[in-house]
Order: sequence, then structure tokens, then C-alpha cells
Amino acid sequence: MNKIDIGANVIRFVDVDSTNRVALSSKHFPSGTIFIAKTQSSGLGRHNRKWISPKGGLYLSLLLKDLPNIIEYQMASILCGFCVVKTCKDFLLDGHFSIKWPNDIIIEDKKICGILAQTVVSGEKSRGAIGIGINVNSNLEDFQFPLCDNIISLKELTDNVIPLSSFEKKLIIYIKSIFKNNIRNTFIENLPDINDLLYKKGEQGKLLIRGEVHKYRIMGILEDCSISVEDSHGNQLAYSICEFL
Ligand code: BTN
Repeated sequence: MNKIDIGANVIRFVDVDSTNRVALSSKHFPSGTIFIAKTQSSGLGRHNRKWISPKGGLYLSLLLKDLPNIIEYQMASILCGFCVVKTCKDFLLDGHFSIKWPNDIIIEDKKICGILAQTVVSGEKSRGAIGIGINVNSNLEDFQFPLCDNIISLKELTDNVIPLSSFEKKLIIYIKSIFKNNIRNTFIENLPDINDLLYKKGEQGKLLIRGEVHKYRIMGILEDCSISVEDSHGNQLAYSICEFL
């Protein structure tokens, strides 16, 4: 497969409905194109939720095309979350950021970033948008409480306005460097570091699996991009499609 030229094309919007929607709507943008908006009027969240996207946040979608396997879009989204943590740490050195399965970024038990990976498959062809929404300088009063009561922004954490353009630049550099090589190999290489950041690793956590809530001990993310858990009898199980509550 050809190398992906991340960020060779960056398409910017002052306001757009959703960067993920734009990224997936045309077949003509090359793989690696990045879409960035200052605000989104209909930002998409996981599970058909709306992603409130006021000014001050960073709303970015990375378009990837024709990855060898659908699971690599999922791997790419976890790698993007890892890059978000690295970027946030550059602005808050002692911040304890963690990755909540599958790819929320959490600090002090509050969400600072959400990632939505969407894919379109048609025969042999596929394309995916890894949509990243980060509360960089977002004002918490712009969110609708109590609907979004567990969120935080970098600005609130640091008591400083973060230069959005340097945050964006650093994030793109991290993404570029992590997607230099084969996604699956890179995912496997970085898995120990990603697992070090896994929220509640080694602890009990609640997972939503096919509509039911289960309490398991969280063991770690596996090389096939599933999450390994242990039940109360010591049995090890692995799930690809589930949500951490
Ligand atoms: C979540 O529900 O946690 C995922 C939120 C993903 C939001 C981002 S913002 C950029 C991109 N465009 C969208 O419409 N959604 C994603």
C-alpha cells in the first residue's frame, strides 16, 4: 500500500456542519486529507449523539482510504487518541491523561476529547474519517448542562488560553509521525504505551456490551484491537464492540 501523505491537504472551515460528514462525502479527496473547523453546527458524536462544538475547541477529521482491513480504521482512531494525549501533555506536563476505551481522552475523570471513527465500504474500496473533537479553549458554559456535565477543557485545567494554532500544529506533527509506517505494525509497537494510559487498567469497570452492563476487571487492549477483561470467576474475555461506562 502507498504511504499516506498526512496533512498534505488541509481544508479549513470557519463553520461547518460536521468535519466527518465533509470528509466522507466526497470520493475525490486523497487519503491523509485533514479537515478542520473552528465551530460545527451539527457535530457528530458516538451513538448518534450530537457533539456540541463551540468556538475554542479543535474539530478535526482525518480522512483515510483503502486501508487493508476495517480493523485498521479502529487502530488508527486509537493511535489518534494516543497523539491527542501526547499533544495535551505538551501543554500540561504533569497532566494525568488517560484513554477510556475505545477512545475518549479523560483527565480527572472528565472528558477532554472524543473521537468518532466512521467508515464507508463499497466493494473493495473503503474510506474512513477519524473525527477528533478536543476541548482546548472551550468555555464550559457553552455546553448544555446537565447533558454534558462531565467535561473539561485544557483552558480550565491550566487557567490559560492555549494557542490553538500551536496545539493543532503539534497534533498534526504527532499524527504525521505515527502514520509514517504500516498502521497495524505501528499500533502493535505502541500498544504497551497505549495500555499504560488505559483508563481503570487493572481495576473494576462497567462495560456496555450488546445493551447490557457488565462489571469486569479491565486487563488491556489486545493486538487485534479488542479489549481484554476478566470476569468475577477469573475468566479472560475479549470484546471489540463495547463501551466503557
Ligand atoms: C464522541 O462522542 O465522544 C465522539 C465525538 C467526536 C467529535 C468530532 S469533532 C470533529 C469530528 N466531526 C464530527 O462531526 N465529529 C467528530
